[in-house]
Amino acid sequence: MNPVLKWAGAVAGAAVLLGVLAWVYVYVESEAIIQRRYPLPSSTVHAVDTAKAIARGKHLMAIAGCSGCHGADLQGRLLTKNGVLPVWSSNLKRLTQSMPDDEFERAIRFGIKPDATSMWAMPSYDDTYMSEDDVIAIVSYLRSLPPDGPVRPEPEFDLRARIALLEGILAPIVPDTLESPSSLDLGPRYDGGHYLARVTCAECHGTDLTGTGVVPDLTVVSSYSRAGFFALLREGRAAPGHVLKVMPQLARSRFHYFADYEIDALYDYLTARAKVLKPGRR
Ligand code: HEC
Ligand code: HEC
Repeated sequence: MNPVLKWAGAVAGAAVLLGVLAWVYVYVESEAIIQRRYPLPSSTVHAVDTAKAIARGKHLMAIAGCSGCHGADLQGRLLTKNGVLPVWSSNLKRLTQSMPDDEFERAIRFGIKPDATSMWAMPSYDDTYMSEDDVIAIVSYLRSLPPDGPVRPEPEFDLRARIALLEGILAPIVPDTLESPSSLDLGPRYDGGHYLARVTCAECHGTDLTGTGVVPDLTVVSSYSRAGFFALLREGRAAPGHVLKVMPQLARSRFHYFADYEIDALYDYLTARAKVLKPGRR
């Protein structure tokens, strides 16, 4: 055989071998992250069928925006996490047939699936501090709905998603629920507003409410009067000179469901927090 061809063959063979080894490495390392089992926190929630709990659950799901990802019919839809992982949000109506109450609580508050692996796109770090009564209310509401629609598939990780996992661009949810920083505690006087900010605003403004990227720190609320804050959450109206894209949509889809006392509590907490963190501003 021509020696040049022989060399070319050897080099090509080595390149293929390296490629295979790299693929095996990425597969094994990413699979370890995907298959990791987390300790199961204990749970004592039990769904009830009282009208009060069911109404509370429906209201909580409206202001927390569960249908933004799970669909208006709560039957799940296809989302893309960080532009690399296609992931179906679960059909919450169908799950009620197979999922016991304790597994609902672990999913909602810790991002843990029934097989003890992590979820990928469900923002459970918002609801880590959700009260037991409110988890009961949500599960009670879901169990009051007819179990319609198909079961949604588990996410499939292709090579791009697996590389994103190793690079940290994509990460499991559970560590975030265990480690996300909480927002400033201002004592019992502000508990109601603090709680609502954690379960409804933290998803985008961060669990410590300090914002990320284009989403501002919620100290910005101190530039709104109480009436202006009501107009922002109910109608999506911005303060003069402010340009908003996302908040007006959220007012329409979620925040107009807030009761007056809830908007008052949010305003009291967020302005008191702004005074502590940014003294000097109104
Ligand atoms: C940002 C999008 C998003 C929002 C908002 C959201 N979810 Fe999810 N949820 C998902 C996705 C995606 C899954 C599928 C599991 C995953 O993330 O890997 C899921 C899964 C679940 C599961 C089932 C887990 C399992 O084992 O199948 C429950 C229960 C759940 N969500 C409840 C809720 C509730 C209640 C709310 C509102 C408080 C909510 N979700 C808000 C995206 C979301
Ligand atoms: C789904 C993401 C999301 C959630 C949830 C969310 N916000 Fe926002 N918020 C944004 C973004 C993005 C902006 C930047 C301006 C815009 O695009 O509307 C913003 C801006 C704001 C501003 C600044 C307005 C201005 O005049 O500059 C305030 C105040 C605010 N949010 C309050 C809240 C409160 C209170 C909650 C919870 C009840 C909340 N947001 C929940 C995404 C969110």
